[in-house]
Amino acid sequence: MATFPVTRLRRLRRTAAMRSLARETRLDVADFVFPLFVGPEAAPNEALPALGRLTVGDLAREGEQLLALGVSAVLLFGIPEAKDGEGSGAWDDDGIVQRALRELRRTSPELVLLTDVCLCEYTSHGHCGVVRDGGVDNDESLELLARTAVSHAEAGADAVCPSDMMDGRVGAIREALDDRGLESTPIVAYSAKYASAFYGPFREAADSAPAFGDRRGYQMDPANVREALRECELDLAEGADVLMVKPALPNLDVIRAVRERLDVPLAAYNVSGEYAMVKAAAARGWLDERTAALECLTAIKRAGADIVVSYWAKDVARWSS
Ligand code: PBG
Repeated sequence: MATFPVTRLRRLRRTAAMRSLARETRLDVADFVFPLFVGPEAAPNEALPALGRLTVGDLAREGEQLLALGVSAVLLFGIPEAKDGEGSGAWDDDGIVQRALRELRRTSPELVLLTDVCLCEYTSHGHCGVVRDGGVDNDESLELLARTAVSHAEAGADAVCPSDMMDGRVGAIREALDDRGLESTPIVAYSAKYASAFYGPFREAADSAPAFGDRRGYQMDPANVREALRECELDLAEGADVLMVKPALPNLDVIRAVRERLDVPLAAYNVSGEYAMVKAAAARGWLDERTAALECLTAIKRAGADIVVSYWAKDVARWSS
C-alpha cells in the first residue's frame, strides 16, 4: 500500500460534494421509528418534546404529521388510567394502547404501528412482570405478556415488541399469536436490553419507574457482550423476526457483534437518556443539537443497525429536507 505523500486521504475531504460522494453511511428517515406516549391526559414536555404524552384524540393529527414528514413507523407506549398488581391494563381490549391502535389504524392506515409489550407502565409496583416474594416471577409473567401481545395485534398492531426481558417470552408470544390466527404478526424482540441508567427520562414520561429495587434481576448487565449474543440467538430460535439492542450509544460494539454474527434485521433503540444528554447540553449552549444528534445516529447505523428507534426521528426528517 502506498503511503504519504503518494497517498493523501484529505483529497476526498476537500469539498462538501466530494465528502458526500465518499460517504459510507447515510441516514434515511425510512429507517426510523418514532416512539409515541399515549395517556388519558396530554402532558407536553418542553425540554424533551418527543417525550410528551398525547391523548387518543391527538393521534389523528400526529399520524398525519408523521406521514407528511416521511416518518412511517411509530412505537406505542401507553400510560393507563389505573394500575394494579398484575398490570391488567396492558391486555385490556379497551386499554390505552388498544384504543390508540384502533384510532391510528383508522386515521393513518399507512403508518406502521409497533407496540411495546411490557407490564411496567401498568403494574402498581412498576416492575416488568408479576412480583412474587419480592422478585419478578418469570414463568408467571409469560402468560400475561402473551395476552398483551395478542390484544395489541387484535387491535391493529403491525408488530409487537416485547421489552420485559423475561426468559422465553418470544416463544410464548409466538405461540399465543399463532393460536389466535395471528401468524403474520412479526415480533421485534428487545433481545439485548441492558439495565441502564439511560432510561431515566422515559420512566418519568411513561410513569414506569420500579417502586422498589431495580431491574438488574431481569435486564442485562452492561458489562456483557457474549451474553447479548446468546440472548439474540435464543430469541431467534423462539421466533423473533427482528432483534434489538438497547440502549444504542453505550452498546455500539454489541450492535456490531450482533450484525456480524446474525443475518437478520437489527434494530437499535437510541433511548431517552441519550436524547436528553444532547438536549440538555444544547440548551446550555455546550453543543449544537443537530450536528450532535446526526453524529450519534450515523454512528448507530455505522455500527450495523438497520432500524433506529429515536426521539429525533421527526427531526431527522426535517433536517434532511
Ligand atoms: C419498558 C421500556 C423501557 C424503555 C422502553 N421500554 C424502560 C425500562 O425498561 O425501564 C426505555 C426507553 C427509553 O429510555 O427511551 N420496559
